[in-house]
Amino acid sequence: MHTLPTKIEIRNLVKIFGDEAQGDALKLLKGGASKNRIQAETGHVVGVDHADFQVEEGEIFVVMGLSGSGKSTLIRCVNRLVEPTAGQVIVDGVDVTALSSRDLQEFRRSKTGMVFQHFALFPHQNVRANVAFGLKVKGLGQDARNQAADEALAMVGLAGYEQSFPGQLSGGMQQRVGLARALASQPDILLMDEAFSALDPLIRRQMQDELLTIQQGLANRNTILFITHDLNEALRVGSRVCIMKDGAIHQIGTPEDILMRPETDYVAEFVQDVDQGRVLLVSNVTEPAVTVTGETAVAAAIGTMDRANRDSLHVVDNEGRPIGAFTIRAAARAPGSDPISKHAKPVESVASDMMLAKAYQRCGGGLPLAVVDEGGKLIGSVNPLEILAELGRVESISEKLEQAKAKGTQR
Ligand SMILES: Nc1ncnc2c1ncn2[C@@H]1O[C@H](COP(=O)(O)OP(=O)(O)O)[C@@H](O)[C@H]1O
Ligand SMILES: [Mg+2]
Repeated sequence: MHTLPTKIEIRNLVKIFGDEAQGDALKLLKGGASKNRIQAETGHVVGVDHADFQVEEGEIFVVMGLSGSGKSTLIRCVNRLVEPTAGQVIVDGVDVTALSSRDLQEFRRSKTGMVFQHFALFPHQNVRANVAFGLKVKGLGQDARNQAADEALAMVGLAGYEQSFPGQLSGGMQQRVGLARALASQPDILLMDEAFSALDPLIRRQMQDELLTIQQGLANRNTILFITHDLNEALRVGSRVCIMKDGAIHQIGTPEDILMRPETDYVAEFVQDVDQGRVLLVSNVTEPAVTVTGETAVAAAIGTMDRANRDSLHVVDNEGRPIGAFTIRAAARAPGSDPISKHAKPVESVASDMMLAKAYQRCGGGLPLAVVDEGGKLIGSVNPLEILAELGRVESISEKLEQAKAKGTQR
């Protein structure tokens, strides 16, 4: 058994919103009353209901639950952006709930970094200045600030974008800036509240992978409190996952625990969705399509492919409807001056809300799928390998479940 030092300790934490919440509402909650009943009788809203757990140093602790389950309230109690109603938050042995406001400022500055869902970047400052912002508050000189900012930007893959402005970057890149800003001050604890939820699924998965890579590469690993409403994301990044409903914690465990040994009906229901792969749609793996029209010369199309760093592209008609795909392999045999339409292979069209398992049956040719809207216009592309990777992951989860079930019946 490994025993890492405890970084964050949440002790019997309660948050009830409303005036004088310590009174009747807290009494009712302690007596076991439901969130609904408390709201009906006192008008108070239960945000967090007796949360009690520990987070180890260097782990990615995921809090998962539907909207309104209390995730944000819980994470904000850790740095007291929300004042707890009862209970304690202990970080490195220090009772955060007892800090004076001045010590609290210092605690936030020196120990925590936050990444938000909607980036919160300054539009009129360049990327470097945005990332260096937190360090200014910390009192670092300009050169040291810029150096730390550039290092953090390199970590998130944005070296070279220091002088760009947020508006010039894609959503995924802006969120990288947000992550770099949090990393630049080398916080012990990263608080990430739905940080990836606004991103397209593919970019989102890239960011998840990158977060894991960054975390593993750091000499002193941050402890990360990561919030999401998406079970797939929770299972992918979490060393442990905490599942919340109505402010209360239903289960805390490793992804495997959650999948194979759900402790409440509520958790079991969530897991069921993953088990069936029901949650996966074409939109989960759709990427922007790179397109050319049929009369484009092969040589020009190859240039387009190169610049987009793709090994295939879609050929469309003048209305934007898919005609076929052109692959890098076909490019080797096609004369550069030929119109591309002569070398495009027919592709299958799918809707973005089609189930992934069904779409996969159309991937036999190995060509990308054309994702089309109701009018038949191309709106995106799906790489068959991405479908495989995603289905494979679900498969391995399902297999584990089957094995667990089989073991259960043998006994
Ligand atoms: N400032 C507030 N005043 C009153 N109720 C709030 C406040 N913030 C959150 N709540 C309520 O607390 C509960 C938990 O909210 P929240 O922590 O934001 O959930 P989540 O982040 O999981 O979506 C919800 O019922 C929400 O309506
Ligand atoms: Mg929230």
